[in-house]
Amino acid sequence: MSRIFLIGFMGAGKTTLGVALSHEVGMEFVDMDWYMEKRYRKTVRELFVERGEEEFRRIEQRILHEVGEFENVIISTGGGAPCFFDNMDYMNRMGDTVFLEVSVERLFQRLKSAKSTRPVLMDKTDGELREFISLTLAQRMPCYGKANYRFVADSLEDKSQIEDSVAAFRRLLRI
Ligand code: S3P
Repeated sequence: MSRIFLIGFMGAGKTTLGVALSHEVGMEFVDMDWYMEKRYRKTVRELFVERGEEEFRRIEQRILHEVGEFENVIISTGGGAPCFFDNMDYMNRMGDTVFLEVSVERLFQRLKSAKSTRPVLMDKTDGELREFISLTLAQRMPCYGKANYRFVADSLEDKSQIEDSVAAFRRLLRI
């Protein structure tokens, strides 16, 4: 197997799990958001605010097609990426897709302290944030549901939980 796409909502643990997994299995890790920031020399937040969401999604698709050609990689995709254009079909053609499934409450706990770097969450009160997660996750589920695998990623809160999750993930994908 040469390509694994990790998909799921912001705060689902795509980066946390992807980094840990890449060390264990000797595959390279690529985070789409980081890659985009290097390529465009701007933060995701700047790109999103300056260009608007429509243009941001086009840039995101270009980045996906670029990293989607890499070999032997684990790719962490932006939370919205699977739901625009034919991105989900593209990823399913290019490799294995894994949806990281996390409860609304757990996402809320993780995102509460990590809102500022994410343009779609900035300026939301706690109540608005919880509501946004619940609604947007429900809207995105038809896209996320097209993934080849589902992995429950509720337990990534410390080193030992991450180790256990990596082991379970490896069993699921047999890697
Ligand atoms: C977004 C998720 C972010 C980033 C952008 C938009 C979204 O990626 O691409 O802020 O629409 O869900 P992460 O899921 O890596 O935070």
